[in-house]
Amino acid sequence: MTNILILGAHGQIARVATDLFLKHTDARLTLYLRNARRLKLSGHADRVRVVEGDVLDTKTLEAAMAGQDVVYANLAGQLEQQARCIVKVMEKTGLKRLIFISSMGIYDEIPGERHGSILEPYCKAASVIEASRLDYTILRPAWLNNRDEIEYGTTRKGELFKNCSEVVSRKSVADLVVKLAMTSGLETRSSLGVHKTA
Ligand SMILES: NC(=O)c1ccc[n+]([C@@H]2O[C@H](COP(=O)([O-])OP(=O)(O)OC[C@H]3O[C@@H](n4cnc5c(N)ncnc54)[C@H](OP(=O)(O)O)[C@@H]3O)[C@@H](O)[C@H]2O)c1
Repeated sequence: MTNILILGAHGQIARVATDLFLKHTDARLTLYLRNARRLKLSGHADRVRVVEGDVLDTKTLEAAMAGQDVVYANLAGQLEQQARCIVKVMEKTGLKRLIFISSMGIYDEIPGERHGSILEPYCKAASVIEASRLDYTILRPAWLNNRDEIEYGTTRKGELFKNCSEVVSRKSVADLVVKLAMTSGLETRSSLGVHKTA
């Protein structure tokens, strides 16, 4: 059975992914979040553990990483510092597999557009992860919505982002997270743009 640590588990994509993991896989989940009282779980108590913590708190993070197979980071804010903490603790504890949600635009892969200062933390976090020895997959979604649909395609680092003016659903990104987490070796050491398909 796969053990998955979800960092930022109250995040919007993370909550959709949690539902998909519980409905469609037999994975055991550790939900790591600040202010755990907000979390509403329905059923599957035997497969879910909740840890209240900040990702920048390396002691709590290290304890939560014990016994995990996959780390899925769904964070915002101080992304560079968060990436540094995650990489450091994963390398220390011997964990390899990281799925990290970033954003489209970090490599200036949107035709005719250069990234602004808002994306700087996302760019720096990606550099930290790419310089590590981890089996990472960075996901770079387009603008997001909460539609109940799974309609997406991916592009690799070095390719132009497709359909960048279209909005992709959080459920699509969550679907890809579940596939990556449950399929050994899938898209490791890669960075995927995630766009809405027509
Ligand atoms: N909006 C878009 O269209 C779009 C497009 C592409 C990419 N993205 C990016 O994709 C990422 C995921 O999207 P989302 O919609 O799931 O984001 P979200 O709902 O904002 O979730 C981010 C989560 O990160 C958590 N977090 C931040 N700092 C933390 C820390 N130090 N320790 C623990 N948790 C921390 C937040 O926790 P709290 O709830 O405790 O604050 C929040 O729950 C975000 O970075 C977002 O900016 C967004």
